[in-house]
Amino acid sequence: MDRKLHAQETPARSKLPPREPLSKALLGALSGSPLDPPPIWLMRQAGRYLPEYRALRRSGGGFLEFCFTPELAVEATLQPIRRYGFDAAILFSDILVVPHALGQKVWFEEGRGPKLEALEDGADLDRLRGEALLTKLRPVYAALEELRRCLPAETALIGFAGAPWTVATYMLEGGSSRDFAVAKHWMAERPDDFARLMDLLVGATLDHLSAQVAAGAEVLQIFDSWAGALPDDAMRRWSLAPLSEIVGRLKVAHPGVPVILFPRAAGKVYLDFARESGADALSLDPGVPLDWAREELQTRVAVQGNLDPQTLVAGGARLDAEVRAILNAFGQGPFIFNLGHGILPDTPPEHVARVVQIVRERRG
Ligand code: CP3
Repeated sequence: MDRKLHAQETPARSKLPPREPLSKALLGALSGSPLDPPPIWLMRQAGRYLPEYRALRRSGGGFLEFCFTPELAVEATLQPIRRYGFDAAILFSDILVVPHALGQKVWFEEGRGPKLEALEDGADLDRLRGEALLTKLRPVYAALEELRRCLPAETALIGFAGAPWTVATYMLEGGSSRDFAVAKHWMAERPDDFARLMDLLVGATLDHLSAQVAAGAEVLQIFDSWAGALPDDAMRRWSLAPLSEIVGRLKVAHPGVPVILFPRAAGKVYLDFARESGADALSLDPGVPLDWAREELQTRVAVQGNLDPQTLVAGGARLDAEVRAILNAFGQGPFIFNLGHGILPDTPPEHVARVVQIVRERRG
């Protein structure tokens, strides 16, 4: 595999400190430095919008099998780095490898998303086991080790996991959900079992993230994609509190490793995350107002985001304008350009190239 996947020039054009050609821009932004140009990567940057990913996926098996084959996971991770020279590579895997490793049945149906054998009661919960997690997920760590060997020197490697609440919704609902009725029913009617599941997931998430650091991950991101389904008080209890605990314990075990939290659609509670979670950065969804985020969040943590994935699909003048508005709002503080949620499968790859071009050509 090529050691050097691309040569990247990043001339400095503003009052901000110039980017060192071979340092990792993502780590700079996460340590609180404003950079020009800011680092860029995109959530779900490897995936079906890329023809080379679709071809690779055809080469074998189910989606989990694909994730658990290190050569394929490494190749999928590298595809968007080769094409766009992003500042970070995110391990190709999925948040649902954790319930799988705990012993729950997880499978992916073509075009229908993830399916799980839903937990029905406390006895189902008793059957889940955290002890074998690290053994079952060894292929994931092997992929990270290989990525650390072959990524360009300036590309940071991100490991990730789902947040306990988001992962719990899949485990209780048996797949994606519109209203989270089952998960909310457990929360209200079986509070002890629900709390037990969340505790199990806090431990499993910590083990999985720590093992990723040991295997070479330099940055961690935790996806709480369904945080916004919870009313504010419940969000503090079941999204902010467990994530703060995870961040606190990661900071003890791996003090130098930055953590990005993505409590999607958290609204005003983003401010509590900035104040209390201990995260180095918050990933913002497209609904977060830019001025508010600059004043209330970016003064406390680095911010990442928050282009609407639909705007990226549409392209054209509106895409250019929205990218520039985000750069203007956040460019003078610690900032990582990203989407506000994962890239959509019908995104034209040339629209992604356009965004990278605008971000890298920015004049401060
Ligand atoms: O960002 C990356 O490039 C790394 C890979 C990654 C995947 N899933 C690969 C994937 C990451 C970071 C995830 C996270 C993930 N997975 C989340 C949190 C982020 C978010 O989008 O909210 C969630 C909720 C999941 C669960 C999941 N996995 C769903 C709901 C689906 C089906 C939806 C879909 O896009 O098909 C998946 C499948 C999945 N995970 C795919 C990919 C590339 C598509 C499956 C395929 O290629 O056949």
